[in-house]
Amino acid sequence: MNERETWATRAGFILAAVGSAVGLGNIWQFPFKTAQFGGASFLIVYVIAALGIGLPAILAEFVIGRRSNLNTISAFEKLGHKNWRFVGALGLFTGFWILSYYSVVGGWVLRYIGGSLTGAYFGAPAKYFGQISAGMDALALHAVFMALVVVIVAAGIEDGIEKATKLMVPSIIVILGALAIFAFTLPGASEGYAYFLSPDFDALFANLGDIVPFAVGQAFFSLSLGMGAMITYASYIDGDQSLFGDGITIVFLNSFVGILAGLVVLPLLFAQGIDPNTSGAGAVFISVAGAFANIPGGQAIGLIFFLVVLIAALSSAISLLEVVVSWAIDNYDVTRPQMAILLGGVIFLLGVPSALDTAWLGWFDTLAYKFFLPVGVLGILIFVAWVYGAPALDEVMKGSGLGEGVGLTWLWLARTLVIVAVVATLVLGFQTLFLGESPAIIPPI
Ligand code: TRP
Repeated sequence: MNERETWATRAGFILAAVGSAVGLGNIWQFPFKTAQFGGASFLIVYVIAALGIGLPAILAEFVIGRRSNLNTISAFEKLGHKNWRFVGALGLFTGFWILSYYSVVGGWVLRYIGGSLTGAYFGAPAKYFGQISAGMDALALHAVFMALVVVIVAAGIEDGIEKATKLMVPSIIVILGALAIFAFTLPGASEGYAYFLSPDFDALFANLGDIVPFAVGQAFFSLSLGMGAMITYASYIDGDQSLFGDGITIVFLNSFVGILAGLVVLPLLFAQGIDPNTSGAGAVFISVAGAFANIPGGQAIGLIFFLVVLIAALSSAISLLEVVVSWAIDNYDVTRPQMAILLGGVIFLLGVPSALDTAWLGWFDTLAYKFFLPVGVLGILIFVAWVYGAPALDEVMKGSGLGEGVGLTWLWLARTLVIVAVVATLVLGFQTLFLGESPAIIPPI
């Protein structure tokens, strides 16, 4: 069996977790979902969901990980609850599931970096997206993206993930900040800010049933919750740092980057008179690319923008692969590089349908954030708050320097309100899944 690795520093853990959280969810989906669901109204619900539901849930994952120092399945056994391994197994499955299409989108991003260099998408952005998003091109770049992920994960926790994310996360923040400043200088940008930052409460209350499941689902996806990514990362913690402190930092930075991305994308679109209210997998690619086509220096700005998206996507994708690799090397006598290559290959194959048909990709995505992730979060919360209970409280308090009351508040929130909110999200999400619009529950053929 291999000697288990640990993070070299506390900052290393935090940055890796932020890297996992900050990804396509923040830059690709968040600004567009915000636009689709009424701008600032959605933003408010999202921030409440991230703090009120996301934070207690991320702490629950940290508790399992740090207490057990094991992967997402074996952790439950180590904590004395073998029967709960199914929650970890669902997480492992979800890891394969999400990374398979996430990597396809990562491939699109690679293609758009090239497209910015050559100016290929400038003439007809929608047509370009149609050509590159599905088919052999998409498949080839899906392979390249997966290979990059495999290389980082194969290098290990300290030498691979920690080193990479220490560089990647600060770069994301600095570059997005610079782009936000650039977007500010565009004529017409102020309409974007008005839309993003001034809430319409009537619209909010009229559409609460639609907004809440999306906002909560988005918070889970964006914080990488519900499949053991945070369990796995926390399992490499060595020492008693404050989990509360880490959790708050991660939730804050994750929301901050989402908002920063909104401050880049929405002014950019409004400045060009492009309606951001177009949903779907291709939104960021078509409308943002269209905006770059019309601004001075668009080629360079486009290149920088898609480069940040790539960095964010990579730093998230490595956490998804790490979940499954960690499970394999904890349990079998195999090396990390072998498993990274093998499991990366399996995930590549699972992503083939998504690379060949964007409808399939949309269906994978919908099922993940409306079903697998909320169910995973629910399982983890019930386990930590109700089944595990007292030792969980002990673990969350360790190294926190806080009064017992804070821990008890967390435990009771996790036992009650948070669980109710997750169940409500699942029910509402289910309604739209079965009764509602496409993508339907039946996969596209
Ligand atoms: N959080 C990432 C994003 O916003 C995606 C991601 C990485 C993820 N690991 C995860 C989502 C685990 C759910 C579960 O893009």
